[in-house]
Amino acid sequence: MFNQKPPMAEDLQELVLNLPREKNLDGTNSLYLFKGAWVSAYVLRAVDSFQRHFIAQDTDIIVASMPKSGTTWLKALTFSVAKRHLYDPRESPLLTTPPHELVPFFETDLYMKDPHPNLEQLPPPRIFGCHSHFANLPESIRNSKCKVVYICRNPLDQVVSFFQFTHQFKQDGTPLLSLDECYENICRGVHSRGPFWDNVLGYWKASLERPDKVLFLKYEDLKEDIISNLKKIAEFLGIPFTDKEEKEGVIEEISRLCSLDNLRNLEVNKNGVRPSGAPNSSFFRKGEVGDWANYLSPSMAENYLKIVEEKLGGSGLTF
Ligand code: A3P
Repeated sequence: MFNQKPPMAEDLQELVLNLPREKNLDGTNSLYLFKGAWVSAYVLRAVDSFQRHFIAQDTDIIVASMPKSGTTWLKALTFSVAKRHLYDPRESPLLTTPPHELVPFFETDLYMKDPHPNLEQLPPPRIFGCHSHFANLPESIRNSKCKVVYICRNPLDQVVSFFQFTHQFKQDGTPLLSLDECYENICRGVHSRGPFWDNVLGYWKASLERPDKVLFLKYEDLKEDIISNLKKIAEFLGIPFTDKEEKEGVIEEISRLCSLDNLRNLEVNKNGVRPSGAPNSSFFRKGEVGDWANYLSPSMAENYLKIVEEKLGGSGLTF
């Protein structure tokens, strides 16, 4: 995706032959429209393998999102809630391991390394990250009893976060898209794992139809009240906090452990890089609601919000 560009294998060349193609944020001509979602060539094969081969177990938990919507935060929170019978927050593996390693992505981690990874032996509950559209999830995720926790974010902050993320560490020579070019693409839904509206709508509708299956969260709500959202996550996963845990302050401990300031300042998150070439530190930036106003003009914001609103029309989902 960024500074790593393996040559395209023959089977992949065949796969992309007839797919619509556009420029990615990193300036390369490498974004393909695959099953209704824009996917970079870097992850395309892994996305395809994951969507075709993954077999879910009823105890699995999937942390799903559009990129740059608070996935890292939700991974840390979900891991802490779901594995709290194993780890006290004060001795959490999050203190020594980045959230993306404890909760690997199907696409950029597991199926990137191996088109048929052996995941059977992982101890339950297995927790995975995912940026695929709901409609493209493997049948077994949609039809088993496994749980999906989804986080979405104000589309303007999501765009700005992605733009800043890409610009932080681009290393090869290709010129990046300017903010104007990026904006023009985003208004057409052309950005990694977009269109935004299709990604969020799939999970939104699924959460309305099957509230026991999909929990739909908003980044802004978590920022406003993390405690009640942690309770919501625990209840949804079928492991509500007990009165004893509440009295002992376990919820507050988890919220502190997973806070931006705490995670950002851990040595493990200050150092190291992801397989994509993205430094671990690049997943922790400002974490502010409304940061878009520092980058987008009011008319850009109004225009994009109007497009998103139209696309979400009648769904009941608003920003
Ligand atoms: P900003 O770029 O606006 O700062 P993702 O994890 O999906 O890649 O999203 C990254 C965004 O979530 C970044 O937003 C990042 O700062 C923010 N973020 C990361 N960890 C967070 C945390 N623990 N609490 C709140 N926000 C967090």
